[in-house]
Amino acid sequence: MTLTFESHGPAETRRLGERLARLFRPGDVVLLQGPLGAGKTCLAQGIGRGLRVEERVKSSSFVLVNEYNGRLKVYHADLFRLEDPEEVADLALEENASDGLLLVEWPDRAPDELPPDHLLVRFDVVDATTRHILIEGRGRRYEELMEGLSLTKRDGKTAQTRQTTHARPRD
Ligand SMILES: Nc1ncnc2c1ncn2[C@@H]1O[C@H](COP(=O)(O)OP(=O)(O)O)[C@@H](O)[C@H]1O
Ligand SMILES: [Mg+2]
Repeated sequence: MTLTFESHGPAETRRLGERLARLFRPGDVVLLQGPLGAGKTCLAQGIGRGLRVEERVKSSSFVLVNEYNGRLKVYHADLFRLEDPEEVADLALEENASDGLLLVEWPDRAPDELPPDHLLVRFDVVDATTRHILIEGRGRRYEELMEGLSLTKRDGKTAQTRQTTHARPRD
């Protein structure tokens, strides 16, 4: 199952992250794909906030993986500066993040080193403030997770929550 959202600003993208956060459990893997400035870190911040991580999730400049504590542990990997996919193999991300949620920006830097089952979030930049965000579940666990997301998506359509549910479904 694939769901597409349209976001009109960073606050809406963070809100979508918060909505996703409710659905995660330890061992989950989320790959964040899209060009620089698309909103990957912004969504990660929303997920962090939804999981009650106190610090603000930020882009790491030198470390490949940042660790946060919230309702779940959050491991945030940014592979942008990766030079050799082998480095990712050395990190043993899946194994080391198995007690929490693994978020990976720039997964295309090391596609063969990342778990085949995951939630894929793909960002398209439409204009300065508009992003199309496509979410796809790969593997059984993530198909299930998508069911949960589609339920919250339906909630978002009710007139009352529409004003506060910012990342609006695009359909
Ligand atoms: N709808 C939107 N969603 C997310 N970010 C947006 C949006 N519109 C504009 N922006 C801007 O785009 C940038 C996204 O930055 P960031 O999340 O760090 O991107 P990435 O991690 O993909 O490189 C921020 O400067 C943010 O203010
Ligand atoms: Mg980033």
